[in-house]
Amino acid sequence: MNYLRSVVLREQPQRDLYLNDIPAVQQLIRVGHLDFPKPVTVFVGENGTGKSTILEAIAIAMGFNAEGGGREHRFSTQDSHSELWRLLSTIKTVTPDDGFFLRAESFYNTSSYIDQSGSRLGRYGYRPLHTRSHGEAFLALVQNRFEGHGLYLLDEPEAALSPQRLLSLLVSMHDLVELDSQFIVATHSPIVMAFPGAEIKLFDENGIHTVDYRETDHYQITKQFINDPDRMLNYLFSND
Ligand SMILES: Nc1ncnc2c1ncn2[C@@H]1O[C@H](COP(=O)(O)OP(=O)(O)OP(=O)(O)O)[C@@H](O)[C@H]1O
Ligand SMILES: [Mg+2]
Repeated sequence: MNYLRSVVLREQPQRDLYLNDIPAVQQLIRVGHLDFPKPVTVFVGENGTGKSTILEAIAIAMGFNAEGGGREHRFSTQDSHSELWRLLSTIKTVTPDDGFFLRAESFYNTSSYIDQSGSRLGRYGYRPLHTRSHGEAFLALVQNRFEGHGLYLLDEPEAALSPQRLLSLLVSMHDLVELDSQFIVATHSPIVMAFPGAEIKLFDENGIHTVDYRETDHYQITKQFINDPDRMLNYLFSND
């Protein structure tokens, strides 16, 4: 299901001028829109290429709290988001029943907020998120709180998860997609980006392009490393 079909940039950023130096934003200025034709879209690319900036702007433009959470969550610790959201129009099909924005840096604050809203605790598996490990809390959130028919925006969900739990995340995502959900996920994990049928948008110095899973550096470097760690380590540590 594609609740969010496209985002359109109406005008160029004027306040947060650093945005104009990010090639992904330059592409938005040039082309005018970014489309989401598949139920799962994955943002990949080097550090600093603009994945979080664009994901966060989409989240706020869709009505989520800038710091993460469901659309019912309203809390604020520090405003660190850019003006980009204000310049975007979202093209939607229908409004999703459910949704969640996981911000890489603020899962702790999101968990605190959820734990304090005691009445809703049942939705998270009857145990405060702060009494669980980071990975346990994150997976409890996905398995108990994500109900389907939703739009889920996740920034680096792999930060919390062991490889085994990453596979569990793929299973949960698959079940949720079967229940008419849409995901947009920024990730460095070759496991997450392998989601079947996902559209992989590569952010680089030229902008944003759709690529095949096996074309990504993440896949190729991880594969080379795992196939022969000694060879790569010898190469990295050699002085010539
Ligand atoms: N408030 C700010 N002022 C100036 N530059 C900023 C600000 N916030 C972000 N940037 C710059 O914007 C660029 C894009 O950052 P962003 O966090 O979107 O990258 P990313 O692709 O998510 O990287 P990563 O993979 O490391 O999470 C970076 O070069 C960053 O330094
Ligand atoms: Mg990021």
